[in-house]
Amino acid sequence: MGKKDAKEKVILFCDGKKCCRYNSEVKECFKDLVKEAGLKGTVHIEKMKCQGMCKQAPVICIHKDECVGKVSKKDAKKLFEKHIA
Ligand code: FES
Repeated sequence: MGKKDAKEKVILFCDGKKCCRYNSEVKECFKDLVKEAGLKGTVHIEKMKCQGMCKQAPVICIHKDECVGKVSKKDAKKLFEKHIA
């Protein structure tokens, strides 16, 4: 805990009014992926405020590098492979 490591990453979920209605499935999917990869403690899943992209709910940002809208479970896997795994 608290150990800084180059691989430390943050997956940010928009938890604004619109996204919170759509993001639970994708959130679970990311949680499972993190667990399966044994990256609990290295990859953090956090909430963020409305990103002003509500039409694209659910919105997810990976490490503030890339914010994506309309994320499906399939997209979640792809994003995870691209940025985390
Ligand atoms: S509620 Fe998520 S972008 Fe506005």
